[in-house]
Amino acid sequence: MASYELCIDMGSCYTSIYKKNVGVVLREATLALMETSGKNMRVIKMGMEAERMYGKSSEDEVFVRPVVEGIVKNVELCQKLLSYFLSKVAHYRIVKPSIKVIVLLPIGLSEEEYENYRSVFYAIGFSKIDFVYSMSCAGLLDFRMVSNSKTNMIVNIGGGKTEMAVVIDGKIVNACSINVGGNLVDRAIVEHLQRSKGYILSMNTACKLKQEIGSLYETDTSSMEVVVQDSSANGQLNVIISSQDIFTPICDNYFKIVQTMQAFFNSCSQEVAQDIVHEGIILIGGGSLIAGVEQFFKKILNVSVFTSFDSQIVPLLGSEKLLANYNLLQKVVEEN
Ligand SMILES: Nc1ncnc2c1ncn2[C@@H]1O[C@H](COP(=O)(O)OP(=O)(O)OP(=O)(O)O)[C@@H](O)[C@H]1O
Ligand SMILES: [Mg+2]
Repeated sequence: MASYELCIDMGSCYTSIYKKNVGVVLREATLALMETSGKNMRVIKMGMEAERMYGKSSEDEVFVRPVVEGIVKNVELCQKLLSYFLSKVAHYRIVKPSIKVIVLLPIGLSEEEYENYRSVFYAIGFSKIDFVYSMSCAGLLDFRMVSNSKTNMIVNIGGGKTEMAVVIDGKIVNACSINVGGNLVDRAIVEHLQRSKGYILSMNTACKLKQEIGSLYETDTSSMEVVVQDSSANGQLNVIISSQDIFTPICDNYFKIVQTMQAFFNSCSQEVAQDIVHEGIILIGGGSLIAGVEQFFKKILNVSVFTSFDSQIVPLLGSEKLLANYNLLQKVVEEN
């Protein structure tokens, strides 16, 4: 019988699956395209295939994200997506394979929110499930090759939320989160360009602008051509948008994040704060890839800040240590 040992991170924007001794075997949008006509909503496309339909869907189709701000909002759809993703990475032949999983969780879930995660994963029929905080997993990595400090302040800027934690030896000693992430930045860009220029654009176009030319350098001169609806001309236009055109909505949201980081840092004990000042703050998550973020945060916090290698999959890379060491996994699960 085939057997798999996997770590699964079902994020607000992306679901990633890591396979023991192999690496990342899947990273697709946590997204479905649904048909709304008739009595029931019907799933038409999922993951990457749904993402490819942005701008091409018909009027009776809607895009649904079943995880919002790190919280499972639609259990049934999450189960469907998860089964679909698993069918791509764990090959079913005659007998159902035995699959053991580590599931990564955001911090600060209520009892009910945690139950929703459990409902999603228990319905699949895994042979074993261990729930671990994604920030604990991230904290297991060696971010600095030279220092042997075990204290890490990690800030995970995701699609739905930003989590921050002080992790010592994989154990979270202090943590908090705010519902500011990439999706909110995209929405702010849409609203800002409508107000300032009268352009109507999709969230997807805003996301592309953010990823390609979004910058926290006020003087950045990058630009990009996109198609927008013009509210006065009532038609489609090809326009050039510059980094400076979208600086305000990006800066406002990253400023909210850094204010929370400041308050979080101030709440740490003197010993931990000293370690953080010495070692610097580590940024992970897709939102840490925006240009100029390290300098922007450093200027306000007066502490070194650096974006991690492979920043979008750091917790999954940390999970390799847990997949390889059962005792460590037990220890981290118990401490959660
Ligand atoms: N180069 C980039 N610049 C700015 N943002 C980016 C960049 N690349 C990706 N992102 C954003 O990162 C976010 C996705 O990050 P990530 O994969 O860490 O989120 P997630 O784990 O799905 O969400 P969460 O952890 O909040 O549940 C998206 O909003 C995406 O637009
Ligand atoms: Mg995440």
